Amino acid sequence: MENKKSILCIGAGYVGGPTMAMIAAKCPDYTVTVADINADRIARWNSDSLPIYEPGLYDVVKQARGRNLFFTTDVEQGIRNAYLIFVSVNTPTKTFGAGAGKAADLQYWEKCARLIAETADSTKIVVEKSTLPVRAAEAIHRILQSNPRGIEFHVLSNPEFLAEGTAIRDLENPDRVLIGSMTVPDSHEAMQTLVDLYAHWVPRERILTTNVWSSEMSKLVSNAMLAQRISSINSISALCERTGADVSEVSRAVSMDSRIGSKFLRPGVGFGGSCFKKDILNLVYLCEQYNLDAVAKYWEQVVLMNDYQERRFAERIVKAMFNTLSGKRIALFGFAFKADTGDTRESPAIYISRMLIEEHAKLAIHDPQALPNARLDMKGYEDCIEYCEDPYEAARGAHAIAIITDWHAFTELDYQRLYDSMEKPAFLFDGRNILDHRKLFEIGFEVYPLGKAKLSHMVHSR
Ligand SMILES: NC(=O)c1ccc[n+]([C@@H]2O[C@H](COP(=O)([O-])OP(=O)(O)OC[C@H]3O[C@@H](n4cnc5c(N)ncnc54)[C@H](O)[C@@H]3O)[C@@H](O)[C@H]2O)c1
Repeated sequence: MENKKSILCIGAGYVGGPTMAMIAAKCPDYTVTVADINADRIARWNSDSLPIYEPGLYDVVKQARGRNLFFTTDVEQGIRNAYLIFVSVNTPTKTFGAGAGKAADLQYWEKCARLIAETADSTKIVVEKSTLPVRAAEAIHRILQSNPRGIEFHVLSNPEFLAEGTAIRDLENPDRVLIGSMTVPDSHEAMQTLVDLYAHWVPRERILTTNVWSSEMSKLVSNAMLAQRISSINSISALCERTGADVSEVSRAVSMDSRIGSKFLRPGVGFGGSCFKKDILNLVYLCEQYNLDAVAKYWEQVVLMNDYQERRFAERIVKAMFNTLSGKRIALFGFAFKADTGDTRESPAIYISRMLIEEHAKLAIHDPQALPNARLDMKGYEDCIEYCEDPYEAARGAHAIAIITDWHAFTELDYQRLYDSMEKPAFLFDGRNILDHRKLFEIGFEVYPLGKAKLSHMVHSR
């Protein structure tokens, strides 16, 4: 008989790894195995150099690894041993066939479901941890139930709301844990199993139980609404630059309204990450499938506004630097899509870099954690890019510095020293508004904050 306290997670990525490490740390009475087909990733989870950078993650992994947390490539054995199977594989945007560019590509998920159906020899609870389109649970349940041995499966939706960079804090103290279950017999018991697991450390009132469709939908809507706030304030940053308003002041005034609140209202070069764009496009595709064209267009605009913001930032650099970047060195500070992560998936840095290279700029890219991923993203552009571990080396001889990621470390650099080593006029484009612009101006920089007037030493400059 299966051990009801045995957990498997298929997919040892940004979600599977940290989530399972937290469950193992908080639930020492459970055995947690994380399996992945990527042997290199598994080897790194078993080493001191984890495959992802996340503050606090190493300590949590160390606490449980070898005790009740295991990483393996043997997915089949993991399936046989487990009672609760989380599936946390990637669900990228489809690049081919029907729905290309919008719909979620469910091939990795379906492969896992089929493998579970083929391999399992006893009842299992299969948990959707990946972000999936609404009604995916139904299809998954059908695949699982089609196993010829008559084994029973329960499917639950348990979307993950962690944010990279703060994953450990989010997992330890979540705003809510959402569990959706189907209305088939016995699913209540399955749901209770998952509730009991989280109740080891999450207050019961923060564990929400819903029907499975609401759960799947809530994840897409949460991401769409967060991204919508970013696109909203970014759209206003463009208007501020034209009108003389200061977007930081506007954002502050607006966010002091308790009905609106302050989070996700900071302007920037655009949102990135593997989820926002993909999940909104997934929502757009769903709307189109149900002939809700006005709703689809409404949400699609959030993504279009983000593309606009990335393009606008690059175009502002070109325009400010006398409409030519040919042969000019530009130091990009930050390549990760946000601070405190090495993840560069869908990072605005990728698009901005490509646009600057099209203008024949030479880039010097510095990031405290993301250089290995940046190298992969920018493969083929080696002639135009230097990767620098040291920000001072990146800025040496540069005509401009562009802040792309809001790493705190960038606020602590010696800007006088950076300025002294640069070509003049030395430009600084603060794509995150994290620096002291007045001070930079006094040092001698031509300062271009986002969504507010530039600070320029040039006479007649507008
Ligand atoms: N990254 C985030 O911040 C975040 C937050 C919430 C939800 N999500 C969702 O969680 C899911 C996973 O995201 P991620 O960022 O962890 O992805 P990821 O790409 O980092 O990890 C997915 C892992 O699944 C593995 N995998 C794929 N197919 C497999 C198979 N058949 N058998 C075993 N392993 C397999 C891959 O090798 C990879 O290591 C996605 O649906 C995503 O939308 C992500």
